[in-house]
Amino acid sequence: MTPDKFKLAVLVSGRGSNLQAIIDSIEKNELQAEIALVISNVKNAYALERAHKHGLDGLFLDPKSYSDRNGYEQSLVEHIQSKSVNLVCLAGYMRVLGKYFIEAFSDRIINIHPSLLPAFPGLHVQKRALEHGVRFSGCTVHYVNEEVDGGAIISQAVVPIFDNDDEASLSERILEQEHIIYPEAIRLILEDRLTLSGRRVLHNK
Ligand code: GRF
Repeated sequence: MTPDKFKLAVLVSGRGSNLQAIIDSIEKNELQAEIALVISNVKNAYALERAHKHGLDGLFLDPKSYSDRNGYEQSLVEHIQSKSVNLVCLAGYMRVLGKYFIEAFSDRIINIHPSLLPAFPGLHVQKRALEHGVRFSGCTVHYVNEEVDGGAIISQAVVPIFDNDDEASLSERILEQEHIIYPEAIRLILEDRLTLSGRRVLHNK
């Protein structure tokens, strides 16, 4: 009998290029994982189409059909638990997750963010980096806690900012790095190579 694969749930809201990077790594056998479920809070998210094209279970869960955030999160948790998922990956998921969800998957939720955290958490990140005049930006994979983009940092990639950059060009160069470090961070987790020490995430050889 082959052992069960490490199972991922990927939460999305839009384009889904990071979902695609994870799918590609799995299909190239670089990541010994399986995507058990893709959930979107946006009906027409292109990410759902990507899931469909690759024969993955894709589900639209409409937050508006629940009376409150807890009800919505309970449903999210039930769907994810029904697939015995090992890790929840947020990939462009545009809703803030609350205590209920975070406690259900404690230390098993990760996110990718397009800045070098703790600089520029939240929205309109590349625009804010350009306006601030930083010479380097990048992206960060981090554990998710209740503070927006505030959890322990797993990995980062640095991207220089050029004088002729605009939001689109900077976003594109950062995205290229996201597609490298996100699957790589998932691999470190599934190989059990990370140790959490306070706010630090140590990478074991
Ligand atoms: C990425 O820039 C990611 O860092 C941020 O949202 C964007 C999602 O892009 N959290 P995509 O949907 O994965 O293409």
